[in-house]
Amino acid sequence: MHAPLPGPNNGEKTLLVNELSVGFGGVIALDNVSMAAAPGEIVGVIGPNGAGKTTLFNVICGFVRAHSGDITYDGTSLLEHHHPHDLTGLGIARTLQGVGLCAGLSVLENVMIGAQSALHSDIGSAFLGLWRSNREERRVARLARDLLEELGVAQHAHRFPATLPYPIQKRAALARALMAQPGLLLLDEPASGLSNDEMEELGTLIRGLRSRMGVLLVEHHMDLVMSVCDRLVVLNFGQVIAQGTPEAVRSNPEVATAYLGDEVHQVSASPGMPDA
Ligand SMILES: Nc1ncnc2c1ncn2[C@@H]1O[C@H](COP(=O)(O)OP(=O)(O)O)[C@@H](O)[C@H]1O
Ligand SMILES: [Mg+2]
Repeated sequence: MHAPLPGPNNGEKTLLVNELSVGFGGVIALDNVSMAAAPGEIVGVIGPNGAGKTTLFNVICGFVRAHSGDITYDGTSLLEHHHPHDLTGLGIARTLQGVGLCAGLSVLENVMIGAQSALHSDIGSAFLGLWRSNREERRVARLARDLLEELGVAQHAHRFPATLPYPIQKRAALARALMAQPGLLLLDEPASGLSNDEMEELGTLIRGLRSRMGVLLVEHHMDLVMSVCDRLVVLNFGQVIAQGTPEAVRSNPEVATAYLGDEVHQVSASPGMPDA
């Protein structure tokens, strides 16, 4: 029997981070961090360099171990399933800072791997072409093409990643993550290396995903998170210093001091050239 479909915000398919702490030697990278990301919302994790954003991302992915606290997704503790290869099976997909496509495979094949890892939790089998049947391979190829189409890069399906501009490669990597049809998508610095126009297009693409999944966006570009996110979590020195809507966070003086302190200082020091 199928369970009833989850309603919005009833706790299902929600990522809950509860009093999480992580240290590296003497450095406390995350200090008692609590936050949540529910289906249908885009949550941004922001903060200055060294604030702990990537560490939070890495604990959720299973790359880094927590010292204390807990993370659950859809009611399952991620700390018990604490390996990156468990994630897809739990319904979580991720893209990493940078691109990480396989050089020897076409864009289409790279994207198809996203489904392979969801089906078999074994990326290696994808390289061997071990689809369960030709029919499955065709179905997966169609889904991959549809996603490349949606992300505006279908015309590059048969190219090798290294022959394509960086923003196109990043879209292919996003398509690969989406192949698993995740309930939660984790994006680490998706805007790195993109121009302002490309960042704006990326923002539109991310907004378009929201009806299908929750998105946790780790990003230091304020413009992108402010325009894309429904809610922001602000980290500074490993602690959550603010949470709320972009508007609330923007007007929070503690955030301004922590995150924009240098920028604000520079702007006021050169009033004639605010964007220099
Ligand atoms: N593998 C590691 N070993 C030691 N220190 C680390 C490691 N990863 C991160 N840190 C430290 O943890 C803190 C948080 O880093 P990070 O999560 O990368 O911040 P952010 O992504 O917000 O820039 C920093 O002080 C950083 O130097
Ligand atoms: Mg980082």
